[in-house]
Amino acid sequence: MKIALIGYGKMGQLLEETATFRENEIVAVIDPYAREKTSLFGTLMEKSIVGSRNLAKADVAIEFSKPDAAFENLKQLSNMQIPTIAGTTNWYDKLAELKTIVETNGSSIVYAPNFSLAVNLFYRIAQYAAKLLNPFEEGDVGGFEIHHNDKLESPSGTAKVLVERVMSEFKRKKKPVWEMVDRKIEPEELHFASMRIGAVPGTHSLIFDSYADNIQITHTARNRHGFTHGALYAAEWLIAKPRQGVFTIDDVLDDLIHQL
Ligand SMILES: NC(=O)c1ccc[n+]([C@@H]2O[C@H](COP(=O)([O-])OP(=O)(O)OC[C@H]3O[C@@H](n4cnc5c(N)ncnc54)[C@H](O)[C@@H]3O)[C@@H](O)[C@H]2O)c1
Repeated sequence: MKIALIGYGKMGQLLEETATFRENEIVAVIDPYAREKTSLFGTLMEKSIVGSRNLAKADVAIEFSKPDAAFENLKQLSNMQIPTIAGTTNWYDKLAELKTIVETNGSSIVYAPNFSLAVNLFYRIAQYAAKLLNPFEEGDVGGFEIHHNDKLESPSGTAKVLVERVMSEFKRKKKPVWEMVDRKIEPEELHFASMRIGAVPGTHSLIFDSYADNIQITHTARNRHGFTHGALYAAEWLIAKPRQGVFTIDDVLDDLIHQL
């Protein structure tokens, strides 16, 4: 694939490394604030999508920038008909607007708050476990997540999705409780705790517990490679055949699972 990287921070730089290792070609790098010398592809570095010399060469763009920049970038990429992987998080209040733009342009986007294929499989495993355990009325469910001490928000976006998926099947739980409780927890509350420690890239644990047994399922990220591999896999999927519209990582995963 000929790839344009939009945003050259931690994710953009790791993508550069992973994509070229997998014999893709980086044809454009766009970041208004990155220093040119940080890029192996310094000559490709440009400050803006609008007026870019290199973007038209790309088969696909991969966008990991900042929440306040993402929507404008995605809009411009759609206007240029460049298939796009949207990795930046926290712009989703504009998702409906972006869908209209993409439909009008007949372009294509895959977005995901978490591009790790393993995390998205973990959601499905957790949801299925919740479905299996739901009928056993003595059982309870809760969990916790751990991230590095630089993380800005609690709980993690991944924890929110995980709990939502579990509650969709575990019918007794109607309300997530994220903060510390200094009272008895109500039966319909699902307690999910957050810890911030050191350099932990991301751990999510779901615990099913009853008076006799305990089942715990955990996803542990070792590094950021899960995100870059997933984003590159989604990019291959997006351009493998003509597609139009806004897709999610679940569409990519559905196809992957059916191929197995
Ligand atoms: N979906 C996922 O799987 C996933 C995984 C990891 C991170 N993220 C998200 O991706 C985003 C980027 O993460 P990061 O760790 O690389 O952040 P980062 O802060 O290391 O890098 C962001 C880069 O975006 C650049 N930037 C700012 N404005 C820009 C613009 N208008 N156009 C292009 N680039 C611009 C900055 O100069 C910076 O280099 C964050 O929102 C993060 O939460 C998503």
